[in-house]
Amino acid sequence: MHLVSLGILLALSALCSSLDNGLVRTPPMGWMTWERYRCNIDCKTDPEDCIGEHLIKSIADKMADSGWRELGYVYISIDDCWSLKHRDSNGRLQPDPDRFPSGIKALADYLHARGLKLGIYGDMGTYTCGGYPGTTLDTIKIDAETFASWEVDMLKFDGCYSNSSDKALGYPKMSAALNATGRPILYSCSWPAYEGGLPPKVNYTLLGSICNMWRNFDDIEDSWASVLSIIEWFAVNQDALQPAAGPGRWNDPDMLITGDFGLSYEQSKSQLAIWAILAAPLIMSNDLRTISQDAKNLLQNRLLIYINQDSLGKQGKRVAKAGSLEVWTRELVNEQYAVAVLNKGTDGLPKHFTTNLALLNITECTFGYKLYDVFDEEFLGTVKSEEPFVVTIAPTGVVLLFVHPASTKHHPV
Ligand SMILES: *[C@@H]1O[C@H](CO)[C@@H](O)[C@H](O)[C@H]1NC(C)=O
Ligand SMILES: *[C@@H]1O[C@H](CO)[C@@H](O)[C@H](O)[C@H]1NC(C)=O
Ligand SMILES: *[C@@H]1O[C@H](CO)[C@@H](O)[C@H](O)[C@H]1NC(C)=O
Repeated sequence: MHLVSLGILLALSALCSSLDNGLVRTPPMGWMTWERYRCNIDCKTDPEDCIGEHLIKSIADKMADSGWRELGYVYISIDDCWSLKHRDSNGRLQPDPDRFPSGIKALADYLHARGLKLGIYGDMGTYTCGGYPGTTLDTIKIDAETFASWEVDMLKFDGCYSNSSDKALGYPKMSAALNATGRPILYSCSWPAYEGGLPPKVNYTLLGSICNMWRNFDDIEDSWASVLSIIEWFAVNQDALQPAAGPGRWNDPDMLITGDFGLSYEQSKSQLAIWAILAAPLIMSNDLRTISQDAKNLLQNRLLIYINQDSLGKQGKRVAKAGSLEVWTRELVNEQYAVAVLNKGTDGLPKHFTTNLALLNITECTFGYKLYDVFDEEFLGTVKSEEPFVVTIAPTGVVLLFVHPASTKHHPV
């Protein structure tokens, strides 16, 4: 009997195995340069916004003193364009000394002293996407060792300038090389995005065992159209993607653009709600030094973060579509749920939507559920599974509900 249950346990853990570095049992949260700052290396014209240690340190100061870190936003990642165009005499990658005069190790120390973690960027290929030195099969080991010697905490490994067969060798090899350094380094793989993001070309079982997170689809841009195209792709392909996610291994629909130029207030809520349902990494790319109070309040919404960080680690799904409305649900621990009703319509008038929890497959609790509006921060009432309720959703906006058993008193945060 013992042997049988042990066997079942082993089979289960094999099915759900994730990269065994102990990191990101809930989706990582933080900030990254790419979407907002791109490959801006012009520190003469743009001293505040160029890729360099000044930008990273000033963001780190904000992260540490404006409430972000306490909520879990701890990774600060430098994306492409940090290095010189050539390796040093020992064959190692080196930061541009004009923009990173103190070096990467000192920058990591600066972040660590503030309770933050530093991410860096590399590329499996001859060059990075921005044309800086890439990592080829024969430089994987030295690059992993260099990053570890700088005490970096995360590596985003892009995939420009290599073919599929080199990627198939390089991504697992970098995973092993990072492990061999002995330093736990969150490993973010862009590999699937280069292979169309879907099986059979992408093997999500394999990815989950070598990477902590991965980009599945196109880069986000600063527009609602970009957010919508990502949401639609994740919905259409959810049956292939949803089982890939779990503690230690996350699908990454790309950065949060709340606080930038392209999204309205309602659209920002929509991105955040769907990213929370998707158990997506919450990696902002914005300017924390000048961000509006409205954007900050959205990004710092505790219940939104609670939903995103749920320890079950189960990615949610789109469960219904009717006209411009979509309903998304995510199962959380302790018979709690998140429900998002998204209105993709643009015809001005907010839409009323009537539903009940049974229709959304939320039925276990005989005493019903309490409904809480996450963004309005408002208790809406207690309903039985079959009891209809109405939500009203602004154009291109969302209503995100936190649903919990009526027997529990309050929402958790
Ligand atoms: C992929 O690129 C490598 C060079 O990095 C080359 O040796 C190999 O032949 C290429 N493979 C294919 C299938 O094109
Ligand atoms: C390396 O991998 C082993 C085996 O999977 C694991 O136990 C260990 O924690 C890993 N170490 C690091 C630093 O990732
Ligand atoms: C996917 O990778 C896993 C783990 O490496 C392997 O066992 C499995 O056979 C692969 N699946 C396919 C369809 O290649």
